[in-house]
Amino acid sequence: MASSALPAPSVVAVAVAVAFAMWPDLIQKAKGGGLDVVQTYVFWNGHEPSPGQYYFEGRYDLVRFIKLVKQAGLYVHLRIGPYVCAEWNFGGFPVWLKYVPGISFRTDNQPFKASVVLLEMQKFTTKIVDMMKSEGLFEWQGGPIILSQIENEFGPLEWDQGEPSKAYASWAANMAIALNTGVPWIMCKEDDAPDPIINTCNGFYCDWFSPNKPHKPTMWTEAWTAWYTGFGVPVPHRPVEDLAYGVAKFIQKGGSFVNYYMYHGGTNFGRTAGGPFVATSYDYDAPIDEYGLLREPKWGHLKELHRAIKLCEPALVAGDPIISSLGKAQKSSVFRSSTGACAAFLENKDKLSYARVSFSGMHYDLPPWSISILPDCKTTVFNTARVGSQISQMKMEWAGGLTWQSYNEEINSYSEEEAFTAVGLLEQINMTRDNTDYLWYTTYVDVAKNEQFLTSGKSPKLTVMSAGHALHVFVNGQLTGTVYGSVEDPKLTYTGSVKLWAGSNTISCLSIAVGLPNVGEHFETWNAGILGPVILYGLNEGRRDLTWQKWTYQVGLKGEAMSLHSLSGSSSVEWGEPVQKQPLTWYKKIYPTVPSFQAFFNAPDGDEPLALDMNSMGKGQIWINGQGIGRYWPGYKAPGTCGYCDYRGEYDETKCQTNCGDSSQRWYHVPRAWLNPTGNLLVIFEEMGGDPSEISMVKRTRGSVCADVSEWQPSMTNWRTKDYEKAKVHLQCDHGRKITEVKFASFGTPQGSCGSYSEGGCHAHKSYDIFWKNCINQEHCAVSVVPEVFGGDPCPGTMKRAVVEVMCG
Ligand SMILES: *[C@@H]1O[C@H](CO)[C@@H](O)[C@H](O)[C@H]1NC(C)=O
Repeated sequence: MASSALPAPSVVAVAVAVAFAMWPDLIQKAKGGGLDVVQTYVFWNGHEPSPGQYYFEGRYDLVRFIKLVKQAGLYVHLRIGPYVCAEWNFGGFPVWLKYVPGISFRTDNQPFKASVVLLEMQKFTTKIVDMMKSEGLFEWQGGPIILSQIENEFGPLEWDQGEPSKAYASWAANMAIALNTGVPWIMCKEDDAPDPIINTCNGFYCDWFSPNKPHKPTMWTEAWTAWYTGFGVPVPHRPVEDLAYGVAKFIQKGGSFVNYYMYHGGTNFGRTAGGPFVATSYDYDAPIDEYGLLREPKWGHLKELHRAIKLCEPALVAGDPIISSLGKAQKSSVFRSSTGACAAFLENKDKLSYARVSFSGMHYDLPPWSISILPDCKTTVFNTARVGSQISQMKMEWAGGLTWQSYNEEINSYSEEEAFTAVGLLEQINMTRDNTDYLWYTTYVDVAKNEQFLTSGKSPKLTVMSAGHALHVFVNGQLTGTVYGSVEDPKLTYTGSVKLWAGSNTISCLSIAVGLPNVGEHFETWNAGILGPVILYGLNEGRRDLTWQKWTYQVGLKGEAMSLHSLSGSSSVEWGEPVQKQPLTWYKKIYPTVPSFQAFFNAPDGDEPLALDMNSMGKGQIWINGQGIGRYWPGYKAPGTCGYCDYRGEYDETKCQTNCGDSSQRWYHVPRAWLNPTGNLLVIFEEMGGDPSEISMVKRTRGSVCADVSEWQPSMTNWRTKDYEKAKVHLQCDHGRKITEVKFASFGTPQGSCGSYSEGGCHAHKSYDIFWKNCINQEHCAVSVVPEVFGGDPCPGTMKRAVVEVMCG
C-alpha cells in the first residue's frame, strides 16, 4: 500500500447489519460506485455470545462475506477491533466479559485483573486471524484482505487516561504484530501507533491529517457520510457536495486511501443497537440506503468523483503536489510524474462566492466550497459542487394493512420461581446480563386508614430515580407514568401523583434498557435501572423512603419467557380481540381473508424492499418469523426545528437535519429474505399503548426521479480525446418500472428542488415535449443539454440548465 499509494476509495459494510441474502447485491453496488475495498468490523459479541462458544452462522458468517467480496473482485479491510464502537451494543464487547471479577476494559490494569480481559482479547483476535489464514484469505495467500485494524479510536482515551492506557495500546499493537498476518495493521485515531502500525484518520474531513512517520501512507479509515440516528434526535444528513469536497481535499493533499463510513449502514436488527438510544435504522444517509437501494444523487456523484480521481492516478502516485495560490481563497494542487502525466485540483474554499481563476493560461469557474478535478491539467472532468447525477425521491408505498389479535402482558404475572426478592435496589444489567431489555422492580406500600390524604383528596407524590434508560411506573396495576432519558443523558427521574388506597398498594416499575453504551471512558461501568432513591411524599409521616425496603425482581417479560415471538410460543396462549392504547400488549398479525391461516400473512409481491409503518405505535419490539426486527419508538419525538441546509461551509452532524418535531424513525426494515411467500408470523410487543390498526406494510420505491444538469456540467466521456460529450440528462427507473409521467421539464433557468420545481424567467417551450418523446415508457432515457435539442436557445448569453422530474410506475 505504502509504495503504490493507489487512491482506493472503499466502503464500510457492517456485514451483520444486513440479512446475508442482501450481501451480493450490496457488494455489486459498491463496486458499481467505483470502490475497490470493502471494510467491515468484526463483532466480538456476535461471534462469541458466551465464553468459548463461537458463532459464525447466518449473517455472522464472516468467511462467507469475505469470500463474496473476493468473488466480486474487491479487496477487504478487516477491522477486528475487537472493540469496535460502531453504535453497536456494548461497542462489540460481549456482556459476559464485564462480569469477569475485577475486570476493566481497554486499559492495562493489575495483572490479576488484566490477565483475563487481555487474554480474552488476544484469544479472540488470534481466533479471527487464524480463521482468515486457514481459509487463505490474506492477500499473500491469494485472498482479498489487504489491511487489518487492531483497537479502535483509542487515541482520545489515551490522552485522558495517561500511563495505563499507553501501556495497553502498546500491548495491543505488539499482540497484533506478533500474529504475523503478512498485511499491514492500522490503528485509527491513534497518533502514537508504534511502527510498523499505520495510524489513520476518522472524521468529516481529514485533509489536516498526516501519519506519524513520513514513510506511512496517508489513510482515512472513516470518511463520515453523515451520522447515526438516535431515538428522540433529528435525523442527520450530509450534502454530497460537501462530502465530495472533503474527499477531493484529502486526495489533493496526497491522501491515498479513503473509506466511507458508512457506504452502507443497514439495520441494527434485534437488540444489536448500542447507545443507549441508538435507533434501529443505521441508514447513516449513506450512498446505499438502509434498504440496499442507491441513494441519489449521493451514490452517483461519488461514483463520478471516483472516476475522476482514478483518471488522475498516473500523476497522483508520482509524489507530492505543488501548491500555488490562485486567489484569496483559491489554490491549485498539481501532481506531475516523470513520464509527463499531470493532474490538477483547483480549489475554491470561499464559503459564499463563485471564483473565476486563471490556471495554465485558461480560465476556470469554481463554485463556492468546491474543487474541480483536471486529470490532464486542462480539462475539468468533475467539480465537487456540480451534481449531474439523477436525484431520486424515495417513497413508502402502502402494500397492505394488517389486522391483529392481542395478548395482555400482565403486571406482576411472574411465578414464584422466576421472581426473587432483595432488600434495596439492584443494578439492571447485572440482573438481566442483557438477555432482555426488561427488568421489573416491585414493592408494596401499606397505607393506614388514618392517612390524611385519603380524605383530603391530596394525592401522595412518588419520586423514582433511575440510571436509565426508560421507565414505566404502575401503581396498583395502572400505568401512572412513562419517563425516559436521552442520547445525551440516559438518567431519568419519575415524579408524579399516585392513587393509593388504605391497605396494601403495589408499586411496579418496568425498567427498560435501550442498548448498552458503546463509547466513553470505562463505559462498562455505566449502570442502568432503578438505583434510587425511591421516595413517597405526602403521608402523615411526611416522606417515606422506599429505597431500602424489600423489592421483588423479575427479569424479562412473561411473554418473553413464553417465547411469544416464536411459532410454538405464540400458539401456546389464547389471543383475543385487539385492544387499543393498552400498555404492555403483545400483538399478533392475522391474515384477514384466509381463516385457516389466521395467524399468518403473505409477503407482498414484487421485489421492492419492505418495511413496517409503526407511526401509530409508542415503543416496543418487532419480530418476524422469530427474527428480531428491532426496537421501535415512534413515540419519542425529536425536538427543535430543522432549518434549510446549505452544502457550503464546515459540516457537522447538527448542520443538516430532518424529522424535527417528529419521530426519528417511523419505518422498520423487514428483509424480504426473512419472509416466506405465505404464512408469516409477525409479533409486536407494545409497552406504552398504541393503535395497531394503523400499522401497515410498505414497499420502498422511487417516487419522483429528477435531474438538474447545467449546460457546462463537466462530462467525462472520451475526455482524453477532447471529443467529450455535451452535458446530458440521464434518468433511470428500477425494479423494471418505466417512466409514466413527466411532471416537470424546463430548459432555461428553472427554480426549486426535486418535487417542487417551477419555471424561471427563461424557459424553452419544447422542454416538456422533448422529455415526453424520449422518456415515456422507457426504463432509462438520456437527453443532451444543448439548445438545438430544445428547438433553439431561449435566452442566448445566459447559462441554462435542464431540469426534469418524472415518475416511475
Ligand atoms: C451483581 O449482583 C451480585 C448479586 O446481587 C452482587 O454480588 C455483585 O456485586 C453485583 N455486581 C455488580 C458488578 O454490580
